[in-house]
Amino acid sequence: MKDKRILVTGAAGFIGSNLVECLIKENYVVGLDNLSSGKVKNIEEFQSSKNFTFKKIDVNDNDALKREMDGIDIVFHLSANADVRKGFDDSTVDFRENVQGTHSVLEAMREKDVKEIIFSSTSAVYGIADVIPTPELYGPLKPISHYGASKLAAEAFIFSFSSNYGFKSSIFRFANVVGKKGTHGAIADFIEKLAMNKKTLDVLGDGTQKKSYIYVDDCVNGIIALHGKEDGLFNLGTRGRTSVTQIAELTVARYSPGAKISYVGGPGGAGWVGDIKFAGLDITKALRNGWRYEIDSTDAVKKAIVDAGVSR
Ligand SMILES: NC(=O)c1ccc[n+]([C@@H]2O[C@H](COP(=O)([O-])OP(=O)(O)OC[C@H]3O[C@@H](n4cnc5c(N)ncnc54)[C@H](O)[C@@H]3O)[C@@H](O)[C@H]2O)c1
Repeated sequence: MKDKRILVTGAAGFIGSNLVECLIKENYVVGLDNLSSGKVKNIEEFQSSKNFTFKKIDVNDNDALKREMDGIDIVFHLSANADVRKGFDDSTVDFRENVQGTHSVLEAMREKDVKEIIFSSTSAVYGIADVIPTPELYGPLKPISHYGASKLAAEAFIFSFSSNYGFKSSIFRFANVVGKKGTHGAIADFIEKLAMNKKTLDVLGDGTQKKSYIYVDDCVNGIIALHGKEDGLFNLGTRGRTSVTQIAELTVARYSPGAKISYVGGPGGAGWVGDIKFAGLDITKALRNGWRYEIDSTDAVKKAIVDAGVSR
């Protein structure tokens, strides 16, 4: 990707800021974020680049969004509520941020004749799949969290806008993404807990939860390398899987050696309502199209644990 004018929503977030870092090398990027979970600190280093402009805008403010769409070639739509647990207490948040927010982006693109969207979806759309690793064609899709449901609905709107108005679209269903600037998920959660209590780490679930993790650089490279290929729908993850117990032990070893790990349980041994206990993505399609990841699941977790210490 070169010499494009790109709009990135969620630019100050974890994955968004890593994506911007990569894109501004050869493109001009307008980064939007309402800073609800994103941080100015994440994009500070790009502010001096002639290839980057930041605008504090909420994607649900359709008029403001439209003003930023002038002359844009491609939209990378990453803004979302990315915290699965948040939706349990407030069932409106995923609908507002992920469904309405995506519709607002698509509508602004339509009005301003922007023709390509790249979207960050999630393995959560598969719900509790009985095929692991789960391929893109798995169905029926029955998400078990409002987060998964909202991402599936957002995907559906992207398909219908593409079909109705001739948009090019690419949808990436990410595994758990970890790495520099990461702010949520098990690693961040464990480090925060150990900072408050050095002796005991309380872990949600029974520890056997096992999922695929991908390092953020591999994720960003995948989006850029694969967008527009085949039908545009790709799982993005790694072949390995890592258990919550492994993550807890690795985090304790680094931040509070000797701390006792205590499993507090959860629904069916999962961490919380809506947590998918066992997940892994079939990435054959991404590999077939030439993408390769550099770091497998457990090494991605190990690297992210070190990164978290650097950014604190
Ligand atoms: N991190 C993961 O493991 C993972 C896995 C699968 C999918 N995803 C998806 O990747 C994307 C990025 O996730 P992340 O992990 O970087 O999370 P994040 O919370 O760090 O990033 C989301 C960003 O969107 C911004 N935002 C939220 N609502 C907004 C709104 N209405 N208007 C403008 N900005 C808004 C937030 O401030 C934040 O900067 C999300 O769409 C998420 O669902 C993440």
